Amino acid sequence: EIKAGQGEDLHTLTRWVLSQQQHAPEATGDLTILLTAIQFGCKFVASKVKQAGLINLLGLTGAANVQGEEVKKLDVLANDIFRNALIASGKACLLVSEEDENAMIIQNPKQRGKYIVTFDPLDGSSNIDCGVSIGTIFGIFKVKDDKNPNSSDLIRSGREIVAAGYCMYGSYCEMILSLGNGVNGFTLDPSIGEFIMTHPNITIPPKGKIYSVNEGNYKYFDEPSKKYVDHVKSKYTARYVGSMVSDVHRTLLYGGIFGYPADSKSKRGKLRILYEVFPMAFLIEQAGGKATTGTKNALDIVPEHIHDRSGIWLGSKDDVAELEAFYKKK
Ligand code: AHG
Ligand code: MN
Ligand code: MN
Ligand code: MN
Repeated sequence: EIKAGQGEDLHTLTRWVLSQQQHAPEATGDLTILLTAIQFGCKFVASKVKQAGLINLLGLTGAANVQGEEVKKLDVLANDIFRNALIASGKACLLVSEEDENAMIIQNPKQRGKYIVTFDPLDGSSNIDCGVSIGTIFGIFKVKDDKNPNSSDLIRSGREIVAAGYCMYGSYCEMILSLGNGVNGFTLDPSIGEFIMTHPNITIPPKGKIYSVNEGNYKYFDEPSKKYVDHVKSKYTARYVGSMVSDVHRTLLYGGIFGYPADSKSKRGKLRILYEVFPMAFLIEQAGGKATTGTKNALDIVPEHIHDRSGIWLGSKDDVAELEAFYKKK
């Protein structure tokens, strides 16, 4: 006899992370706790984004950040909530945020854990005030020596990432996460405040029909990027949100290619290696796609400074291979 409700068996994000931990004999549960803090930050931001226009959260703060960008109120709120939640988790030792000039070292040994978290608290700031999808991006590394965490811990390639993800605040709110064995998607059910697995084992189509790039910068592109864009527009349709999270999310689900190449205006590209390029390159590779600067695998970059930038192209493996061929011809 089946009673009402007995057939329900929802896989929450926490349940899934715990199940992964059970497969790893050396696991301590620290990553589960760290991810709980990140989930909380995402739920908080998701709820504020919905109310933003009603509770005076739109618009600028009047300040500029280390990137030289005008800071929005939601950038600051999101940064504060993630920073505080991560510190309180007791599982982080070093935090790098787009909005903070310096890496933050957790000084109190009692609050210090073994993980480094790099994050873009609010991605797509230019889209906040018109209600277009935005997101949060994060990457997680293990510290080299937890007695002595310091910024030099971040001078390492993206191959050393242990987990990465993003949360998109769109027509629905979804967290995409990889712990290094595939990619899974969890949609926030706002009525219960839980992320529920909705997209298990995401794989990116090997080839797509969409290209996504800010063509307003075309005149600054180098020859291979120009030629590639000329080529791809003859066969594909264009989509460009201008929020990396949304453009990558669409690319992950539908296939195709997204790029923000280095150009003569942004010599080293626009997107930041530690909290935009690496996490997204990691997720795309984990889903069977590719990520490149044009000439080098994106995860093989080694940044020199925490806010360093790089050109990036990522997406379906055949589409990225085609782009790379334009760079090889050069
Ligand atoms: P952020 O809002 O975190 O500063 O990131 C903005 C990034 C990224 O989301 C997007 O892909 C890119 O900037 C868009 O840049 P353009 O407006 O130059 O196209
Ligand atoms: Mn910004
Ligand atoms: Mn961003
Ligand atoms: Mn941002």
